[in-house]
Amino acid sequence: MKVLAVYGSPRRKGNTSILLRRAVEGAREAGAEVEEIVLRDLKMSPCLEIYGCKKTGRCVIQDDFQDFHDRILESEGLMLASPIFFYSVSAHTKILIDRCQSLWVKKHWIDQIPTGAGAFKRKGLFISVGATKGKKLFDGVLLTMKYFFEVLDVELWNSLLYRGMDFEGDVLKHPQYLEEAYGAGKDLVAAIKET
Ligand SMILES: Cc1cc2nc3c(=O)[nH]c(=O)nc-3n(C[C@H](O)[C@H](O)[C@H](O)COP(=O)(O)O)c2cc1C
Repeated sequence: MKVLAVYGSPRRKGNTSILLRRAVEGAREAGAEVEEIVLRDLKMSPCLEIYGCKKTGRCVIQDDFQDFHDRILESEGLMLASPIFFYSVSAHTKILIDRCQSLWVKKHWIDQIPTGAGAFKRKGLFISVGATKGKKLFDGVLLTMKYFFEVLDVELWNSLLYRGMDFEGDVLKHPQYLEEAYGAGKDLVAAIKET
């Protein structure tokens, strides 16, 4: 079983990256083949809104998005981690999300599948960390993830959302969060196996 793990933070050793790495370990322990993608290492243009994808549902911009496109279609699970930047996702993550408009076009314009119709082919885990402690800290990203995951045919199976961590590695002071991430990776694979 293939699971894709997408690191959305610009920090390689940031809080979301540490958590996602633990989730990857859990998923591997449960038997999944996990491919890791670090968005900051990719060359990916933002969506140019030219709708070159209208004919085939494939984005026409030739860059590293093409590889992501193939990998997500081959996978049964997705784990995505992004820090909170201005109540939204990181710019790296947002670029990926917007490029997936090509998959939205394929689903809704080309294949004419109505929004919300059909069972999900994949299950996903979303991990996010913000510095502050506000009640609404994750409202924006959860809405974005709901609709982003739907485009990828991913059911938002679970979200791990942590407040009050700002500096690189702050999450290491919370072994419980690391355990939760490990467990979530493991449980995601178990949940995929059950379907
Ligand atoms: C550009 C930028 C914007 C941020 N915006 C927010 C914000 O709106 N709310 C918040 O609580 N933290 C905000 N933060 C803090 C990060 O969410 C926090 O440091 C988090 O731990 C970073 O995760 P990472 O180490 O995985 O990158 C921001 C940080 C940066 C660099």
